[in-house]
Amino acid sequence: MQGVQQQRQRMKKKVLVVHYSQSGQLSDVLRHLSAPLAEVDDIELHQLVLRPKVSYPFPWPFIRFFDTFPEAIYLDPPELEPLGLDERQRFDLIILGYQVWFLSPSLPATAFLKSPAARTLLKDAPVVTVIACRDMWLMAQEQTKKLLAVCGARLVGNVVLVDEAGSVGSFLATPIWVLTGKKGPLFGGLIPRAGVKPEQILGCRRFGERIARVLSEGRPLDASLLRGLGAVKVNTRLIATEHAARRSFLVWGALLRALGRQGAWTRRPVVAIYFVFLVALLVTVLPLSALLKTLAAPLLRKRIAAQTAYFSEPSGHEIGTGP
Ligand SMILES: Cc1cc2nc3c(=O)[nH]c(=O)nc-3n(C[C@H](O)[C@H](O)[C@H](O)COP(=O)(O)O)c2cc1C
Repeated sequence: MQGVQQQRQRMKKKVLVVHYSQSGQLSDVLRHLSAPLAEVDDIELHQLVLRPKVSYPFPWPFIRFFDTFPEAIYLDPPELEPLGLDERQRFDLIILGYQVWFLSPSLPATAFLKSPAARTLLKDAPVVTVIACRDMWLMAQEQTKKLLAVCGARLVGNVVLVDEAGSVGSFLATPIWVLTGKKGPLFGGLIPRAGVKPEQILGCRRFGERIARVLSEGRPLDASLLRGLGAVKVNTRLIATEHAARRSFLVWGALLRALGRQGAWTRRPVVAIYFVFLVALLVTVLPLSALLKTLAAPLLRKRIAAQTAYFSEPSGHEIGTGP
């Protein structure tokens, strides 16, 4: 009897969910996504919540918020509290949830991906990334893919949830949320509600159901894992904007890093100037590049299709029949 139990234990599939969340939004997403895995007997679910040694505030003070972008864009890892798990364990799947900070993985996620423990944990492990952000995640995922590759991990899926207000609506709603803690809607609906639509968060169950089924059937985890579930929707109109904004973050970020460490008073005046520059950039480049993309869309059909296919890998952008 004991032998059978031990064998069952040995045969259990092990899944690790790693994440950090300030408002609890990403935690919610992962809770719904991983619920079907917790309901299956032959899957053992482990949770790892990342804890920066110096915690990030929520809501964010204005200057502190913008003073974070140089480190975010240059992937300068903050120190994390010990992970509290044996990194030599082998997991059949690692689900890495992260939010985007300044077109980059959030700093706690970066810290995890750059840690020696992650290198051991992630080596040869299949990974599904889960992103919940405003709506600009393409460059962040490019960085994350590179960090995962350095660890020797194998990206088999990506799930992306963006704020329900859309690009224009969330332009003010999301910063107001993270700077004041107020999710809205505000001013009688003039500023829409920030954050991902609750139905979308509930709907993440379908990804967990698919993963649970594939693991329980002992099928290999590959790029087909989340196909047909509408895991990713690429907004190709944002590609040029993300490239332009990332370039500017790199230039200004280098200047700010040369002026001092995060929080140094020497950085403050430049952070304030950069804020004005950033708003000017976003209100000019963002609508202009979106307009140009829309006008040129008929001529760029092939290019847009190629970009959509590239950025939606490995989950694919097609919607099929369900789990
Ligand atoms: C410092 C900071 C920078 C952010 N930068 C971006 C960004 O570049 N792109 C984006 O889509 N969302 C951005 N967001 C929104 C977050 O990705 C996320 O939606 C929000 O912070 C809620 O995440 P939570 O689960 O930690 O509460 C940013 C948020 C913060 C706090």
